[in-house]
Amino acid sequence: MTTIDEATIAGLVQQDLAHLIHPQYYAPEHGNPVIFDHGEGVWLTDVRGKRYIDALSSLWNVAVGHGRTELADAAAEQMRKLAFSNSYTGFSNVPAIQLAAKVSELVYDNLEGVFFTNSGSESNEGAFKAARFFWNLRGRPSKVKIIARERAYHGGTLTTTAMTGLPAFWKYFGPFSGDVVHTAKPVALECDCTPNTDGECGHWLEAAILREGADTVAAFIAEPVKGAGGVWTPSDDYFRVIREICDRYEVLFIADEVITGFGRTGRWFALERFGVQPDILSIAKAITSGYVPMGAFIVSAEIMEALQTLPTESRFMHAYTNSAHPTAAAVGLRNLRIMEEEHLVENAAAMGDRLGDGLRRALGGQGHVANIRNLGLIAGFTLVADAERGTPYEAAQGIGRQVATHMREQGQVITRFVGDQIVLAPPLVIRPEEIDHIVGAIEAAVRAVTAG
Ligand SMILES: Cc1ncc(COP(=O)(O)O)c(C=O)c1O
Repeated sequence: MTTIDEATIAGLVQQDLAHLIHPQYYAPEHGNPVIFDHGEGVWLTDVRGKRYIDALSSLWNVAVGHGRTELADAAAEQMRKLAFSNSYTGFSNVPAIQLAAKVSELVYDNLEGVFFTNSGSESNEGAFKAARFFWNLRGRPSKVKIIARERAYHGGTLTTTAMTGLPAFWKYFGPFSGDVVHTAKPVALECDCTPNTDGECGHWLEAAILREGADTVAAFIAEPVKGAGGVWTPSDDYFRVIREICDRYEVLFIADEVITGFGRTGRWFALERFGVQPDILSIAKAITSGYVPMGAFIVSAEIMEALQTLPTESRFMHAYTNSAHPTAAAVGLRNLRIMEEEHLVENAAAMGDRLGDGLRRALGGQGHVANIRNLGLIAGFTLVADAERGTPYEAAQGIGRQVATHMREQGQVITRFVGDQIVLAPPLVIRPEEIDHIVGAIEAAVRAVTAG
């Protein structure tokens, strides 16, 4: 079914090329774009009527699936009543109060205070500011640095770009503040930790703290599963080691759960699996399933208490016009109700197992796939020229792009590649037959592309 005629599509493409600067912009990629028209559940339909499974929940965010009229109704109802009012100095609104209470109930027990943002970048930026602010209140003004990890993605503001451990995101944007530093493999590291799937272990953090001086470090930031960097899962003991190191050196632990929060890993929040709690939690994306922009950083009871007892002259001067936006909060509340009523966290756990098992079965003996990993409904694998010898593909071959293109064009599955990594994070509403469709499309794409 064609939803828009070819002449109109050609006009749209021209206007797109002329006026729209896309994220991660490279104009030639937009000469023949897939222009989406509508969606339902895990399916997206483009303007020519072609359907695809959205195997990345668009950008890891459309957790409850597309076309949820309940969320459109929640937004419309709130807009008719009170679309916006400000939450500064002495003002508040009903949905924001209710959502802050609901989020506090769902997150780790030790977390109490919610500051709403509009994006994951703003959540991480604010979390870092809160960490510095806290140490100043404690009379430790030298604790100003933040340590982040290689292959991490933390956002698009200048500071969160610096936190991001993917050099491709830095080019021509520097110089960055020297107060944002990264972990690196210590020379002659000897420890008995189980490494994460990308080889990092908790002692990389300890080495970085010792390198910088604990007295200069405010916080460490980490995604429980490194997402945009290629989906790298942690070992079972990694975050316990991290928590111990942070406690030992008095460094606040910021968990960036912008992707993993709200069910993605088969738990409401990913660190639950490891019995670890962060001092500050960054969230965004699935809090509203992407229907309207919203995020938050959430601080521990200790930091909250410090913020609640400030002298007037030390007010926490951090603000966004749209913080605690009533319409976004109303959508967030309805979205979380859907997740609870439809048991989507449990579904993510079950469908995550099916996806992980399916990938291992379909690709395990392929000879061109290594390091298949998943934690609930977030998964990745590495394309290799020779799995037995571990030989990587030449970058110029663009193997990830080839596989992803085959999946989209032949298999009706849209997802992302990061170099040689194929990554997956379908909506939490996904059904068994849709998981099987994704696995089948991947198997066919890997076979076709690696046979050549
Ligand atoms: C882990 C993580 N943190 C932060 C961000 C930035 O979020 P946003 O793009 O909403 O600013 C992202 C975006 O993908 C992310 O994956």
